[in-house]
Amino acid sequence: MSDRIEEVRSQALQAVASAENLDQLNQIRVQYLGKKGLIQDMMKAMKDLPKEEKPAFGQKVNVLKSEVSTAVETKQVELAKIAVAQKLEQERIDISLAGDNLRLGTTHPLVMIQQEIEDLFIGMGYKVAEGPEVEQDYYNFELANIPKDHPARDMQDTFYVDPNTLLRTHTTAMQMRELEKAHGTKPIKLICPGKVYRRDDDDATHSHQFMQCEGLVVGDHVTLTDLKGTLEFMANKLFGDGRKIRFRPSYFPFTEPSVEVDVSCPFCNGKGCSVCKGSGWIEILGAGMVHPNVFRMNGFDPETTSGFAFGVGLERVAMLKYGINDIRNFYLNDVRFLKTFDRFD
Ligand code: DAH
Repeated sequence: MSDRIEEVRSQALQAVASAENLDQLNQIRVQYLGKKGLIQDMMKAMKDLPKEEKPAFGQKVNVLKSEVSTAVETKQVELAKIAVAQKLEQERIDISLAGDNLRLGTTHPLVMIQQEIEDLFIGMGYKVAEGPEVEQDYYNFELANIPKDHPARDMQDTFYVDPNTLLRTHTTAMQMRELEKAHGTKPIKLICPGKVYRRDDDDATHSHQFMQCEGLVVGDHVTLTDLKGTLEFMANKLFGDGRKIRFRPSYFPFTEPSVEVDVSCPFCNGKGCSVCKGSGWIEILGAGMVHPNVFRMNGFDPETTSGFAFGVGLERVAMLKYGINDIRNFYLNDVRFLKTFDRFD
């Protein structure tokens, strides 16, 4: 019987030692230590032994039982550790791997300029007005003091939808809508940014679609000096402190006098460089004092009313500000171009 104990001990310890996982170990435990296991069988077999051998045999089987139990428990701890390690390895997430780069959009440079202009004028108490891009000839031309036979219509090649409907050629159309709406009510202080269209052939400096922002101030004593101060403020905000403004005489049917406005070159500070072609000045917009005819047509008395207006091209401002040399870039939607503006966002 002692041999049998030895045999079971060595089998059991070997089986425990070679168990590869917790399932196997559990089977081994049942096989040896379970209620119907080999060690229990030996206990049962004790009844057939001579009486005097029973205590010694019983003791030996108990020792065997606790030896195998200890071996199973030790192995269990060991295998549990390995199982956890394996699980961790299998489920490992390599956080050092580069993730997928989500492509984020950026604000379009023209929108940036529009927002900048809106912010600076809202700060001076202006409101922002809107109007339709498909416009009536009446607002785009008639009310702007450009009747049907007026030669100034040639200045603006127009996309007509029908004889009375067109794609607005300038934001001045919105100025006229606002003046008509106010119909003599003063004061007015507003800007109207938006898209405009002309039948131009696209090249580096022309685009059949572009953006303008109109400005309009109407009151009792609005002067050309007010216009100059306002535009100087805008130029300093857009192009940096120290900008000067210069007026040159010009002609627009809806203003009298009319001026073309230059800003001192932000690149050379007025000394002369390739951007300003050596002149030290860059033309940025058209402006003037609202024409008496425009006032009259919109229900204002030109004797007691004065006002200034201006129209600035947003592409021109953006090109100067960001050093863009081809206007078509704004409309190609090339993400490589647009992406470069995330630094201003
Ligand atoms: N509408 C003019 C253009 O498109 C720009 C302009 C000039 C607007 C003078 C004005 C102005 O309001 O007073 O060229």
